[in-house]
Amino acid sequence: MMPRSWLFVPGDSEKKLGKGPGTGADALIIDLEDSVAKSRRPIGRELTCEYLRAADRSLSKLYVRINPLDSDDALFDLAGIIAGKPDGLILPKAETAADANRLSYYLDALEVANGIELGSTKIFPIATETPGAMLTLDGYRNPNPRISALSWGAEDLSAAIGASTNQDEHGNLSAPYILARSLCLMAAHAAGVQAVDTVYTNFRDDDGLRQSSVQARRDGFSGKIAIHPNQVATINDAFTPSAQEIEHAQAVIDLFAANPDAGTLSLDGKMLDKPHLTQAERVVAFAKHQ
Ligand code: COA
Ligand code: MG
Repeated sequence: MMPRSWLFVPGDSEKKLGKGPGTGADALIIDLEDSVAKSRRPIGRELTCEYLRAADRSLSKLYVRINPLDSDDALFDLAGIIAGKPDGLILPKAETAADANRLSYYLDALEVANGIELGSTKIFPIATETPGAMLTLDGYRNPNPRISALSWGAEDLSAAIGASTNQDEHGNLSAPYILARSLCLMAAHAAGVQAVDTVYTNFRDDDGLRQSSVQARRDGFSGKIAIHPNQVATINDAFTPSAQEIEHAQAVIDLFAANPDAGTLSLDGKMLDKPHLTQAERVVAFAKHQ
């Protein structure tokens, strides 16, 4: 099933890697990019590969964030970790969907060389981290079959466009980043892949995280990135339908099933039609696979 929580773990930290399995995260993202200093990347690759080989895959999916494709590090990251058979790779600062295709060709060769099933390593681009990327999001329609999810980022984008902050005077996201969030959401659904909300950076503010997670799910995201183990339970909870929601969704499905010729029905004084059935089916499917 689609991971609700995606926890970043710096790939050069033995201590934090050791904590990964106990966090309850549905997926771990072992990072070799911005949370690891360039001088630490060689040791980070070794640790990451060892970790991947030893880890219990029934606890969490394991993705690795490599460096951007046009950096000096990307090929070293790939060559250094692929033997550990990660479930997927996070591709930061993707400029266009063509970057995922390029990465996919590299993976074809690396999978064959390492006895890994061809096409099995997924790709998860962070799709809005550069201004150019924002203008090419329609490229994710008819996506490369390796693409499993899309997310967005407000931090790198604001740095790239010379902004002093990505927030307005009330602490809410300002317009360029609301656009990034919305376009990522649409691109993911147009591609038919998971829409994953970006990090909530203030990791001591649990109420704020809960609000941001609930809003993300309401808007159509089905998971969220975490940076601290304390964020995992809140995210898992926010992206899990409550018993009440499941019960309501099942009632909607049953009502349509009992009235196969009705296009529109009423339940508890509210009008129901096809989109409500689609929503209800999504809630029940999610609950079944969790
Ligand atoms: N994964 C695994 N363990 C983590 C962790 C993470 N992302 N973040 C913190 N921990 C561990 C700490 O090592 C600490 O362990 P200890 O109790 O044995 O000392 C414990 O959880 C509590 O951590 P805390 O002291 O509250 O935070 P910190 O000051 O050590 O770390 C950060 C704060 C932000 C540096 C850390 O959370 C982190 O590295 N996050 C990931 C950053 C990242 O990958 N960013 C890239 C994407 S934006
Ligand atoms: Mg970044």
